[in-house]
Amino acid sequence: MSITRLLPIRLPGIRALLTLWYTAVFATLILLFCFILYTTLKTSLASGIDTALHLRTQQIAGGISYESGKITIQDVTGELPGLDTNATTGDPNATIQANVRSDVNVGILVRILDTKGQIIYISPAFHALVVPSTSISQPLHGAPWQGTVIAHNGQAVRLYSAALTDNGNIFGVVQVGGSLEQLTTTLQSITIALLLITPFVLLLSAFGSYWLAKGALRPIHRLTLSARNIKAGDLHRRVPVPQTKDEVQALALTLNEMIRRLDQAFTQQRRFVADASHELRTPVTVIRNITEVALAQPLNLEEHLAVLQDLNAEAERLGQLINDLLTLARADEGQIQLDRELVRLDLLAYDVAASIESLAVERSITLQIEQMEPATVEGDTARLILAMMGLVDNALTYTNAGGTVTLSVEVTGTSTCFSVRDTGIGIAPEDTAHIFERFYRADPARSRSAGGSGLGLAIVDWVVRAHGGSITVESQVGKGSIFRVILPMAVSISV
Ligand SMILES: Nc1ncnc2c1ncn2[C@@H]1O[C@H](COP(=O)(O)OP(=O)(O)O)[C@@H](O)[C@H]1O
Ligand SMILES: [Mg+2]
Repeated sequence: MSITRLLPIRLPGIRALLTLWYTAVFATLILLFCFILYTTLKTSLASGIDTALHLRTQQIAGGISYESGKITIQDVTGELPGLDTNATTGDPNATIQANVRSDVNVGILVRILDTKGQIIYISPAFHALVVPSTSISQPLHGAPWQGTVIAHNGQAVRLYSAALTDNGNIFGVVQVGGSLEQLTTTLQSITIALLLITPFVLLLSAFGSYWLAKGALRPIHRLTLSARNIKAGDLHRRVPVPQTKDEVQALALTLNEMIRRLDQAFTQQRRFVADASHELRTPVTVIRNITEVALAQPLNLEEHLAVLQDLNAEAERLGQLINDLLTLARADEGQIQLDRELVRLDLLAYDVAASIESLAVERSITLQIEQMEPATVEGDTARLILAMMGLVDNALTYTNAGGTVTLSVEVTGTSTCFSVRDTGIGIAPEDTAHIFERFYRADPARSRSAGGSGLGLAIVDWVVRAHGGSITVESQVGKGSIFRVILPMAVSISV
């Protein structure tokens, strides 16, 4: 897929999400704050009103006395209209004052009743109130009454109703009211202010969080852009790493590491394809040479047979090479499913030795079996034979006539070691690190004549690793080499 077909870079997703979250959290906090502010204010204002009402009631009650069945009211506060005779007569503004007095918001709200509920005194404004009967009966039973009542004009009024006592005997009830208009208007203006401020604060927080999120995501955006500019062809390039010691730096480093591995894999792949083509071309060239020479002149039957034998040998080499390539390609793809059966490694080593014995005799090499401890591993018999054959085949190939190849199987703890030792030409130290690489040959001329293409040890290495094991080599030029395959022992041994 071409990189240019990727979606254009737009990052409203995370930004919008962050903004939404920030704003939602902010909105919740503001609502909570408004609620607490409103209720606290309301409670404190209401309790202030109640305290003032109690005081007024006490003051007024202080001027009321009871003597021989008669209630006498003395206006100690100087506020009770109707008790002060001057207040209603001789004043030119009497009508205005009367109107003012009957307004529940401005006028005095006081009512005094006797024990039968008969009104002894009522201020003009009190007439406008709708008062429940419990406000009289409850104080007469000894408990003061307090509540909110509604005036005719709809205005809420706080009312306090207490018993009048004389030496502990209840002789009447005094009721004092206070308008809640002040409280209502204060709460209303607070509500309006909060309603006006809240959207502004929310808008500000939304813009702020959007701006913050944009700033925080900018380095990632930059990183995305530079990563996108790296095409398959220029994998040597890297994304810039900000020295911020944060997640963005970690991301940039991870991306660079990933690009480095991709680069490595690509290079390996290219080299593998080039090497494979080269290796495949060689036998084809040989076949063409043989056939061209054969076709150029008439041949007798014997010569024909010789040509066919040569062709057969080359075709076999080609077939082996293709087989090896296929095995490695399938292994890379992860297509090869290994069997997991219990395998006696020592018996397998005997089989391998037996099958290769004639070849050893042919090359005048002594094949020895040293130590063979019974060892069971869990794995794929065919692949394990393939690995052993690869090692033994190399030992025979790279050992001169008169040499010795020794096989052994040892058990140490929970692992088993299969080793192949030879007295051959050995491997130079600079080559030992590479011999397990594909197509690597320490001495291509010799390998060629002996028939190897450099894939043998790569396959052995894959088989060993697929079985959870490891392979090591120890070698001295001119003296010989030891290849050791360490495999984990099977957990249970079948009887
Ligand atoms: N027992 C050995 N003694 C000396 N050299 C060895 C031995 N085994 C492997 N090598 C070296 O490792 C190279 C890679 O081995 P391998 O992968 O089997 O390829 P080849 O097809 O050449 O045998 C060989 O070309 C050879 O140079
Ligand atoms: Mg080989």
